[in-house]
Amino acid sequence: MRIYSAPDYYHASRIAANIISAQVIMKPDCVLGLATGSTPIGAYEQLVKWYEKGDLDFKEVRTVNLDEYCGLDETSDQSYRYFMNHHLFDHINIDKANTHVPSGTAADAEQACADYNEVIRSMHGVDLQLLGIGHNGHIGFNEPGEAFDKETHIVTLSDKTRQANARFWDGDLSQVPTHAITMGIKTVMQARKILLVACGEDKAQIMKDAFTGPITPEVPASVLQLHNDVVLVGDEAALQYLL
Ligand code: F6R
Repeated sequence: MRIYSAPDYYHASRIAANIISAQVIMKPDCVLGLATGSTPIGAYEQLVKWYEKGDLDFKEVRTVNLDEYCGLDETSDQSYRYFMNHHLFDHINIDKANTHVPSGTAADAEQACADYNEVIRSMHGVDLQLLGIGHNGHIGFNEPGEAFDKETHIVTLSDKTRQANARFWDGDLSQVPTHAITMGIKTVMQARKILLVACGEDKAQIMKDAFTGPITPEVPASVLQLHNDVVLVGDEAALQYLL
């Protein structure tokens, strides 16, 4: 496991964007696994800048996102499809038909999960999976206690996760969806390379638990200790117990 520490969020985001860029340059038709949340926004901003400078070309890139809230579609500004369009896809030359986010509004949710697994398989898997980490160690929306052998599935969001995300609904917990569709841990672990980004003092303890503690479903990100190509990028605050 390689660890890159940066003095602050801006520089951590640049390192993350550099790693994503390297993947796109090395394999222009690569499959990027993408994440939402606050953490990757800086990396996406940087990728857009490099695209605008002419340094990056996304026309052959394909993407699969980790997760989506149940009940929200791209018309909701809190949906992860909206987030991805807004922060990245609308600003680069990617073909939107090559971008995939799980459907949170499919009539048949089980079928939507199976279809998403098939999308990933049809692309021969993910080359580089970008991850954030929840305060409870979740990756994607794989909450503590989830089995490690799951592919895309529907989850009930934990109170901790809903409370953490209520900030996107002006703190109104009642607005935060109760369920989500997420790639499973098995799907994440099948990515050829994993890039996890964490910033801020509030992520320090979970980073310690996940990467120096026991491998347990109670800390979903701890499973990444078993992956043979993981890069951790963060600021010094988040990585303080790992340096
Ligand atoms: C987002 C996702 C989540 C977030 C995690 C951290 O697609 O899958 O696991 O990465 O909740 O969120 P932030 O970055 O907002 O702290």
